Amino acid sequence: MERTYLMIKPDGVQRGLIGEIVGRFERKGLKLVGAKLMNVSLERAERHYAEHKGKDFYEMLLKFITAGPVFAMVWEGDQAVGLCRALIGKTNALEAAPGTIRSDFAIHTNFNLIHGSDSQDNAEREIGIFFTEEELVPYDKAIQVWI
Ligand code: TYD
Ligand code: MG
Repeated sequence: MERTYLMIKPDGVQRGLIGEIVGRFERKGLKLVGAKLMNVSLERAERHYAEHKGKDFYEMLLKFITAGPVFAMVWEGDQAVGLCRALIGKTNALEAAPGTIRSDFAIHTNFNLIHGSDSQDNAEREIGIFFTEEELVPYDKAIQVWI
């Protein structure tokens, strides 16, 4: 069973798309095990986006992600990391496949509504940046996997 870190960015919160986006992962059949609305401190933003330090969009990315509340989530399920990336779509909205979140709702590469971990290692790392163990709520789903 995999866990992944998803974060609706400030543009998604401002545009009132939290429910729309969360609903897509719910309907897919993944399990929400943690969620909160929060402001991202510069320190957290730098840790989260450490791999992009030095790139030309890095400073703008930090400014954007710290500009307003984000909706941070942890989702669980078989292949959760890859499945969530597939539902999110490619970074550039122009290249995102129709039906993905970024294709349906985003115009810009830099304001692309949602973050999703790109590997299991990064998922563990990112969950650790944004959530404490107590904030995650494991539970059994009553619905069987084959329904
Ligand atoms: P990246 O990890 O490459 O994309 P993804 O979110 O799909 O994993 O980049 C992180 C974020 O940085 C991306 O969501 C938006 C921003 N970004 C830009 O603003 N310009 C760019 O050219 C790239 C590649 C990313
Ligand atoms: Mg990434």
